[in-house]
Amino acid sequence: MNTSMEVYVYPILVLFYSTILFLLSRSATIVDTISRNQAIKDGDTIVSNGEMFELGFFSPGKSKNRYLGIWYKKISTGTVVWVANREKPINDTSGIFEVSREGALRILSAGNTLIWSSNTTVSVRSRNLGAQLLDNGNLILWDQHNTKESPIWQSFDYPGDTFLPGMKIGKDLVTGREKYLTSWKSPDDPSIGLYKNWIDTNGYPQIFQSEGRVLHSRLGHWNGVGFHGFPIENPNPIYSVEFVINEKEIYYRYKQKSSVVPRIHVSSEGIPLQLNWIERTQEWVVFGNIVVGCGRYARCGPYGTCSINMYPPCSCLEGFEPRLPEEWNAADWSGGCQRKQPLQCGSEDGFWKVSGIKFPDTRYSRYNVSMTLEECEMTCTRDCSCTAYAQLDIRNGGSGCLLWFHELKDIREYDQKQELYIRMAASELAGNWNAFDKKNTSVQMEDLDALPFFNLHEIAKATDNFSIDNKIGEGGFGPVYKPVLAWYYAP
Ligand SMILES: *[C@@H]1O[C@H](CO)[C@@H](O)[C@H](O)[C@H]1NC(C)=O
Ligand SMILES: *[C@@H]1O[C@H](CO)[C@@H](O)[C@H](O)[C@H]1NC(C)=O
Ligand SMILES: *[C@@H]1O[C@H](CO)[C@@H](O)[C@H](O)[C@H]1NC(C)=O
Repeated sequence: MNTSMEVYVYPILVLFYSTILFLLSRSATIVDTISRNQAIKDGDTIVSNGEMFELGFFSPGKSKNRYLGIWYKKISTGTVVWVANREKPINDTSGIFEVSREGALRILSAGNTLIWSSNTTVSVRSRNLGAQLLDNGNLILWDQHNTKESPIWQSFDYPGDTFLPGMKIGKDLVTGREKYLTSWKSPDDPSIGLYKNWIDTNGYPQIFQSEGRVLHSRLGHWNGVGFHGFPIENPNPIYSVEFVINEKEIYYRYKQKSSVVPRIHVSSEGIPLQLNWIERTQEWVVFGNIVVGCGRYARCGPYGTCSINMYPPCSCLEGFEPRLPEEWNAADWSGGCQRKQPLQCGSEDGFWKVSGIKFPDTRYSRYNVSMTLEECEMTCTRDCSCTAYAQLDIRNGGSGCLLWFHELKDIREYDQKQELYIRMAASELAGNWNAFDKKNTSVQMEDLDALPFFNLHEIAKATDNFSIDNKIGEGGFGPVYKPVLAWYYAP
């Protein structure tokens, strides 16, 4: 994409030299706004106030089709960030872009054929109606009644394959409208391609990428600071990310923090990259690939965990075994794992404390921002269908509660301290106390040191008849005893 401007500028320079001269002579008058009843034709452009972005007709890559788009002007000249008529190109240079008398942004081609419309209308009394290209890359339609912050229409509400600082990806819970990224079909064709990056609002909201109808990958849930299991720190010197969940909307947005210009782009092959413009070398450098390792969503199936550093990459969580051993051994891990010991439900179950993983898919989860970890644990214990729990927000020592109600899916090994408590049969927990130092997976499994869901007999055995040396603290359930592993079940 960096070279797309070159690809199409040179033919234009050669073929429409006179048009360019004409444009240059007019550039003093054409600024960042098209007013009501005004139009620009193919070859004309408008430029944002700080000359960061330019709007006009262009042809992507090797294509001869004409599209109305917005591209960088001052840096990375010609890199397109937004396209209006993605699905309906013009096959010649007859295109014009106008603000109609009725108050719509419209693209027309030869013979006044309507190619694209914003479908907006304004009252006849509307004054100062105009389409303005802002220096953040947003094209807004506004008049005296509508501020620039809440315009009649804005291109930021219709993202393409590029996520710019200030844009939102998410869902308006009042109107139900979603904003998401869609890849181009190819570098020569901006029509909607295979890949879509969006926020799934089921359970605790998460960002997904799909390929057609198949889930491709999942960004970890928002843990108050950043995306769980995502390597780029937030905030970082280049940008800060905001994830907002309230009654009206759920969205993800980021803000530029320095003079380095960031851009998130999903390629037509579905690779979502965080890019930064480096002024010195005049190129976009990859700051991070938003999809982290391990390939596809839930590659290792339910209760399987994936590690990019191992082969085979899939293993079962402690206490689980392959559900379909034959397939599993033949490198088809999608069947995942099943419990070695079935859950008993209620007080016969306990929890494994697991860290060093990216938490499972939260689409089948519930959350509560004010619960303590103890309340969280109690809620999960009481509900037989609750499979795991964790703290929701890691800020200020941790708060809130996240409860999972389904098979745990899409777990990856990841160097993350936050702990997930997985429901296990008491017999499984007891049996494993013995084998603790084995640690045959690199996932850190810890013994249950805060979870009193055993009957008194077991606790008494495990804690040397409540010897005070083994008392590790008092939770909401009275004293909590740490099991002494060395001698419990010793031969
Ligand atoms: C361009 O599109 C118009 C309208 O769809 C069509 O009539 C015309 O034949 C096309 N021209 C070429 C060269 O494909
Ligand atoms: C405008 O309305 C038409 C007809 O309903 C629709 O096909 C088109 O997608 C709309 N345009 C935009 C930008 O939403
Ligand atoms: C969250 O948990 C608190 C404390 O248990 C409770 O009072 C509150 O009603 C819960 N909120 C929701 C939305 O369930």
